Amino acid sequence: MISLKSVKKTFPGSASGLASGGAGGMEVLRGISFELHPGERVSLLGPGGCGKSTVLKIAVGLLPPDKLDDGEIPRGSVTLGNIDMFHGAAADRARVLRQVGMAFQQGALFDFMTVRENLLFAMENMTTMSPAEMEGVLKGLLTGVKLGHTESMFPYELSGGMQRRVGIARALATSPSIAIFDEPTAGLDPVTSTIILNMIHELGASQAGNPRTLLVATSNVEIAIRFADRVILMNEGVVIADGPWRDLILHGSEWVRHFLGVRLIGLDLDYARGLNLPKEFLNAHWG
Ligand SMILES: Nc1ncnc2c1ncn2[C@@H]1O[C@H](COP(=O)(O)OP(=O)(O)OP(=O)(O)O)[C@@H](O)[C@H]1O
Ligand SMILES: [Mg+2]
Repeated sequence: MISLKSVKKTFPGSASGLASGGAGGMEVLRGISFELHPGERVSLLGPGGCGKSTVLKIAVGLLPPDKLDDGEIPRGSVTLGNIDMFHGAAADRARVLRQVGMAFQQGALFDFMTVRENLLFAMENMTTMSPAEMEGVLKGLLTGVKLGHTESMFPYELSGGMQRRVGIARALATSPSIAIFDEPTAGLDPVTSTIILNMIHELGASQAGNPRTLLVATSNVEIAIRFADRVILMNEGVVIADGPWRDLILHGSEWVRHFLGVRLIGLDLDYARGLNLPKEFLNAHWG
């Protein structure tokens, strides 16, 4: 459903003192490969600045990966729903993108449209819903993200966290078969974070026979493991580990075990049990 092979990305070097990736640029992705199958639910986890948002933007064709010197052949490949996002025909790419919902880290709302218009615009352009159906979805989602009162407000009238929640509602509004959420809960209180995670889960569950593929990028270990069994763990532009987090937390490399474990071992025991942490891990840290 989503496949990245050996994807590299270098941004033109500007600031001095940044890790330099050779020819005057900063190599932010150093060969990223992973595959998501239809209906899979996956967390893309890694520390701030490791390249998660860049991976997502490349996966949906918003940002091109690096090319070889001849400028023709990309070093890696990016396919979404079997369509090559950088060589496929424009019509094919447009068709596959209509099945994708993406909530950006910064909201990325149209700032000249109200909240209501932002959601309707997505539904009108990407679905065949009737106006009455759109109205129902709009009301349901805005209430769900606790923003029912913002329908006629413009993005600049909302806080950053509110804008992100509108972005999440917009991504859910089109019932996409591939839904991607970049830091959906960053900066939100625990209650709202849980509501948002549940809404994303419901989206995954609500399409029998044609399962949705869900990808959440986060730097928060707890969010990542609550969201999905499979975690793709990145650091400094490479995939460090990819697999069921209960295996990684017990049998991953030292760095992997430390990164996954360090935030969890301070948790309340009952809460930790609720996360279904492996028994060996619970025994080792809570005695
Ligand atoms: N358009 C850009 N131009 C130059 N550098 C960029 C650009 N976008 C991202 N970067 C750099 O790429 C690196 C990875 O950024 P990215 O946003 O992908 O990380 P992230 O893992 O999503 O971080 P966070 O957890 O803070 O959201 C950072 O060093 C960032 O400065
Ligand atoms: Mg990011």
